[in-house]
Amino acid sequence: MLKDKIFMLVKEYYELHHRPAQIKKFIPGEDRINYAGRVFDEKEIINLVDSALDFWLTSEKYTEEFEKKLANFLGIRYCLLVNSGSSANLLAFMALTSPKLGDRRIKRGDEVITVAAAFPTTIAPIIQYGAVPVFVDILLPTYNIDVSKLESALSDKTKAVFLAHTLGNPFDMKTVKEFCDKHNLWLIEDNCDALGSRYFYNEEWRYTGSFGDIGTSSFYPPHHMTMGEGGAVYTNSPELKKILLSMRDWGRDCWCSSGKDNTCGKRFDWQLGELPYGYDHKYIYSHLGYNLKATDMQAAIGVAQLDKLPSFIEARKRNWKMLREELEDLSDVFILPESTPDSDPSWFGFLLTVRQEAGFTRDEIVVHLESHKIQTRMLFAGNLIKHPCFDEMRKSGEGFRVVANPILQSSNLLPNTDRIMNDTFFLGTFPGLGKEQIDYTIGIIDQFISNLSLRTK
Ligand SMILES: Cc1ncc(COP(=O)(O)O)c(C=O)c1O
Repeated sequence: MLKDKIFMLVKEYYELHHRPAQIKKFIPGEDRINYAGRVFDEKEIINLVDSALDFWLTSEKYTEEFEKKLANFLGIRYCLLVNSGSSANLLAFMALTSPKLGDRRIKRGDEVITVAAAFPTTIAPIIQYGAVPVFVDILLPTYNIDVSKLESALSDKTKAVFLAHTLGNPFDMKTVKEFCDKHNLWLIEDNCDALGSRYFYNEEWRYTGSFGDIGTSSFYPPHHMTMGEGGAVYTNSPELKKILLSMRDWGRDCWCSSGKDNTCGKRFDWQLGELPYGYDHKYIYSHLGYNLKATDMQAAIGVAQLDKLPSFIEARKRNWKMLREELEDLSDVFILPESTPDSDPSWFGFLLTVRQEAGFTRDEIVVHLESHKIQTRMLFAGNLIKHPCFDEMRKSGEGFRVVANPILQSSNLLPNTDRIMNDTFFLGTFPGLGKEQIDYTIGIIDQFISNLSLRTK
């Protein structure tokens, strides 16, 4: 009864403190248009308070529920909650280095095909481990890997392909998957920006993240759903699930959930490594692992967000479509985004590339939008190789490889990646936006273009 009282007060607090901002009428030019943000109601806060009152803190009922629900949503067998999307990528990659995978394991010096038009923590685990990212250029207007370069990226050291679905737009899964199958390569799908995107393959629609060996999610606030900080890895393989679990939880061999003992029924009957027979299984380490677990409080928020996910996905699609239709007549100055054939993207954002002949630069329009309180974002790193974190590797020319385009100068090996670094930005599509904010955004873009033509007359 006490809990019910608390929950009623929480609802009241939500109605008084949070709801007014959420239903407030949009005032053009006065209210800021964010590109992303948390969308929630009292249910997230009630779950959070419920888990705080339970005070178990580490993973428990909400974590179990969240993992099951997300796996069901994606149509995948196993899902593990982690503390961020970056942790999910680290875990996904490191799982593939497990000695348990025998000859297929990724070893130091092995190569992983990816793109430099990326978020840094898709690439970081590859380099941190001592494997070699092999960068392939992307294609506009899908902003995903140019699959025609896959065969030339291949070497006898290639072990995996690790790619994100750029801002929700699935990469050419058919070609990538068939390439991986043909050459016996692992496929990791960084699904952090694409939760709810679908791809049509083998006569059926499936969610992205469920095609590769391992998929990853992020639940940082700008993403499709949030728990503040949080992430997930998912797989259909029992073997990979076991490795992921071990590496997430300190590298241990034991799979008891938090607070449980002797799930295996033979806690003191194992003999592994060179340990004495019967050494406590709870403290046997089959991997050099991490602790990447999230808390039950994060999962509690996630459970409430998952119920809203289908409506979030629909809102993102609706907003993207509105922007796409309204901006169609500016296709002479912008390259407008296109969804990948056979895909149904759940958009993270709306990408625009300023055409070379547009008569203005990306930075000029971005400053104009920002000065009118419309938030913009770059396509993450643009070209990751050009960042200070690559200074040393660029100088030495070691630690990474770029798939050369034979007809281009060596200084410009990834022309489209450089192009997005210079000319591309994106606008928000998140469910907190609606027609009013989008109409205002279009108006400000139109105003910028007409001022420009007045200037040039
Ligand atoms: C494609 C991609 N991968 C990974 C991440 C990292 O997720 P997190 O911020 O939860 O660490 C992000 C973050 O936005 C991302 O966009």
